[in-house]
Amino acid sequence: MIILPSLLNANTYNIKEQLQILKDKGIDHLHVDVMDGQFVPSQAFGPNTVNDLKNMTDFKLDIHLMIENPEKHIPLYKNADIITVHYESTRHLYRAIQLIKNMGLKACVAINPATSVSMIEEVLPMLDQVLVMTINPGVPGEKFIAQTMTKIEKLDQLKKEKNYHFNIEVDGNVNKDTINECLKAGANMFVSGSYIFNGSIPDNIDSLLEEVKKYEY
Ligand code: DX5
Ligand code: ZN
Repeated sequence: MIILPSLLNANTYNIKEQLQILKDKGIDHLHVDVMDGQFVPSQAFGPNTVNDLKNMTDFKLDIHLMIENPEKHIPLYKNADIITVHYESTRHLYRAIQLIKNMGLKACVAINPATSVSMIEEVLPMLDQVLVMTINPGVPGEKFIAQTMTKIEKLDQLKKEKNYHFNIEVDGNVNKDTINECLKAGANMFVSGSYIFNGSIPDNIDSLLEEVKKYEY
């Protein structure tokens, strides 16, 4: 089980201090949203941020590309550990996954709340990770969409049936209550933004870890 704080919700002014707090809590993955103002309304981060994080920290970098035509930009993210492309953002999903794998990185495909698991069934054997969006992409702090849990269950079932190895990641309003539904459904990677960075970061992380512990044995 992995908790991934989302950089988008960190305080830019106190970033160094906040990243140190995460490190001290044993967090080793960081989720970085890249948004182009086209695929999603907002804009955020890019390759420079990823390069700086790689040079200055030792977090594993989980890069969530919310951009049109991601295959054009993937080569700029060689310092990532995991690259996620949205099913909805490209006509060439297979090519995008191949590009990521050829760079020696882990490949993940994200699906929006309205996208069914069946749309990515063909590529599941190639994937290291599947990201189920539990909010509309691009806007942190939105309401958790509970219907997306059936997609996690479906992925978990396919994984068991076909012996696939991908991790199941969730992103969008993950907090100490919603994480339970995700755990129950079969997710094992949890992106959390507003919840972790509002108030006491160590306490918020502890409250998520407490829920996770109930499912680990
Ligand atoms: C939103 C981003 C998320 C965001 C999550 O589209 O993909 O990673 O930072 O923030 P919360 O947890 O606040 O919804
Ligand atoms: Zn994200």
